[in-house]
Amino acid sequence: MNFHIAIDGPVAAGKGTISRLVAERLGYLYVDTGAMYRMTALLAINAGVDPKDEDTVAKLVENSKMEMRTPSENEKDGRLSTIFLDGEDVSWKIRTEKVSLGASSVAQLPKVRKILVKKQQEIAKGQSVIMEGRDITYRVLPDADLKIFLTGSDVVRTKRRLTQLQAKGEDVTFEEVLRDLIKRDKQDMTRSTDPLKIVDDAIVIDTSDLSIQQVVEIIVSKAKIMIEKKNNA
Ligand code: DC
Repeated sequence: MNFHIAIDGPVAAGKGTISRLVAERLGYLYVDTGAMYRMTALLAINAGVDPKDEDTVAKLVENSKMEMRTPSENEKDGRLSTIFLDGEDVSWKIRTEKVSLGASSVAQLPKVRKILVKKQQEIAKGQSVIMEGRDITYRVLPDADLKIFLTGSDVVRTKRRLTQLQAKGEDVTFEEVLRDLIKRDKQDMTRSTDPLKIVDDAIVIDTSDLSIQQVVEIIVSKAKIMIEKKNNA
């Protein structure tokens, strides 16, 4: 029996960290779909292509090889996944602010989304996964067993993102991070193709006043009840 957990939510709601921990607890594969949009942005940047040039960007994605795996022992440097683009480990290269903004831009291209959604559905086929992104609960895995919408206040999310960026040595201020976060949220929620939204059958969890462990517990306990029900059905 396969069990699919779909998680959507805005920037820095804790989707990655929480999904990785839930995946470890349940022994499922963790899939970071944002990494695929980030790799797409990196492809465009490396090729000197305008991230709004839909046909050229879509071609770059089609001809690329995107792979993800659980970090091995010697890769445990804080990353949540090890990400390969055409055989190169880009786990950290895709985490800069430049790539973040580029990802939000290429994510608006319908042709790019179509290719990436298909890749994501293929990954989920035949195995239990916890997949996170912006359109997982209604586009990528509309029949997911458990749907979660993770959110948090702008200030809390900005603080989290700032801590992550400063830990990597990026020289950014609270105001800059807040501005980028609001800009990306707006782009993600207002784009015409598959914007970020809350579906009726999703459980909404506001992470502002909860610890990571508390959120993980909520999701794992919900999942366990549902997995048992599914197994006995
Ligand atoms: O989750 P993230 O910050 O790594 O995502 C990078 C960008 O990709 C973000 O601007 C939203 C976009 N994205 C998307 O449109 N659909 C997804 N399923 C995942 C991410």
